[in-house]
Amino acid sequence: MSQYQIAVIVGSLRKDSFNRKLATAIAKLAPPEFSFKQLEIGDLPLYNQDDDANQAESVKRLKNEIKAAHGLLFVTAEYNRGMPGVLKNAIDHASRPYGQSAWAGKPAGVLGASVGTIGTAIAQQQLRNVLAYLDMPTMGQPEAFIQVKDGLFDEAGNIGASSRDFLQAWMTQYVAWIKHHAA
Ligand code: FNR
Repeated sequence: MSQYQIAVIVGSLRKDSFNRKLATAIAKLAPPEFSFKQLEIGDLPLYNQDDDANQAESVKRLKNEIKAAHGLLFVTAEYNRGMPGVLKNAIDHASRPYGQSAWAGKPAGVLGASVGTIGTAIAQQQLRNVLAYLDMPTMGQPEAFIQVKDGLFDEAGNIGASSRDFLQAWMTQYVAWIKHHAA
């Protein structure tokens, strides 16, 4: 088993999601001591505080996966200048019941891709506010606002040549961030 297990949350349920592709491709830029698992958030119910004392099995699974991880990687789409509801729903679920948040203290990194020119900058900034509240040390730099263009991925689904150096540098910094905070 790898020394550092990273739980990956993709802020899009779309089958051909660019963000899911990005999450898969960037994981390949990490050293072998890191492993990445994309968590399922599409089967979570809509968050309802009435259920806090009796969380659904899918919610318990999500919380256990987060707790078992050394760090989090959020790769999110942007919907209407905010984070997608499916992502916020997952975050809210795993933050409860009060005092039993799965997120507290887990180091995180944030990136995202969109077809728009600001590359999910607003969604990421909104997400950062939430992660700060949840007491998650979140890597500040480099920021990664990826605009989806031809060549972002190569035919094998790896990061294409034009973005490879930038995203490799991002991953190198992320690896150092996780090692520092997971120590
Ligand atoms: C979008 N899209 C979008 N893009 C953006 O850069 N800023 C935005 O605010 C929005 N808003 C938005 C709302 C809704 C409801 C949809 C469906 C789409 C476009 C979005 O970037 C594009 O659909 C991406 O492909 C979504 O990411 P995934 O699903 O490919 O990961």
